[in-house]
Amino acid sequence: MTSTGAGRSGPTMGQRVAAFNDKLKGSQAWNSIFRPGSVFRKGYTDSPRNRSYVIMNSVLYHLHPVKVKRHAVKVSYTLCLGGLSFFLFILLTVTGIFLMFFYRPTEAAAWNDIKTLHTAVVFGLFVRNMHRWSAHLMVLSVFLHMARVFYHGAYKAPREFNWVIGVILLTLTLLLSFTGYLLPWDQLALWAVTVGTNMMGYAPVFGGQVRFVLLGAKEISGDTLLRWYVLHVLMFPFVIVIFMAIHFWRVRKDGGISGPL
Ligand code: HEM
Repeated sequence: MTSTGAGRSGPTMGQRVAAFNDKLKGSQAWNSIFRPGSVFRKGYTDSPRNRSYVIMNSVLYHLHPVKVKRHAVKVSYTLCLGGLSFFLFILLTVTGIFLMFFYRPTEAAAWNDIKTLHTAVVFGLFVRNMHRWSAHLMVLSVFLHMARVFYHGAYKAPREFNWVIGVILLTLTLLLSFTGYLLPWDQLALWAVTVGTNMMGYAPVFGGQVRFVLLGAKEISGDTLLRWYVLHVLMFPFVIVIFMAIHFWRVRKDGGISGPL
């Protein structure tokens, strides 16, 4: 039976889905996310050549480019701000692991552990300050990197998707910074988070629920500390590493650093 039988007019559900599919695949968003060689654009058939492409497109092969444009290696072009942001992230990871050996995320222990770190742990104060300063610097360098990218118009095609990945990286950097701020469990941290979460409580429709999820209770408490600790040392670092890998891979795949072609 045909789908346009008596009593039925207009396209069938199948035709609508197919039309939507065509529209989606012809859209700018789809084409900026999936590159021309992507299996989502040209389909995939299992052949030795296609298997090679899968490996050749992997991020690990793109850490070092095959060719580099002359202007791209000039420090005055990128100011190395993306690289600096990445370096600071590595430094934060190393110093953060050191801090984890001496810090317990409970109401009773947190502040005392920080005091002990200052006074009784070799290089404790130094490493804590390295961690804190690197965090401030990373927020600054990511922001300046974004400004540099904007100034050079590198957010335009074919780099729109990487710009969006960049916005996610900026958000994750700010979230890492904010969740870390609570951990010393001092007056400054407590009130900063009280103010921050109260502001989120005013978000439309789900404000109250969002605040409750963030605090893990009705008021700021040890539950909030534990929650933010897990987000700070595990969840956000894990997610940001994934997005950084996509970011670096796309820098290569979009033709290297932007500039005169
Ligand atoms: C954790 C944060 C970030 C890291 C580690 C990072 C890292 C990098 C690196 C190493 C590069 C290579 C060129 C350079 O150093 O400038 C780069 C390029 C780029 N980044 Fe980021 N980035 C971050 C955040 C952002 C943000 C917030 C944006 C924009 C919203 C962004 C958008 C871009 C774009 C579009 C390029 C290509 C630039 C070009 O071709 O000139 N990135 N990024």
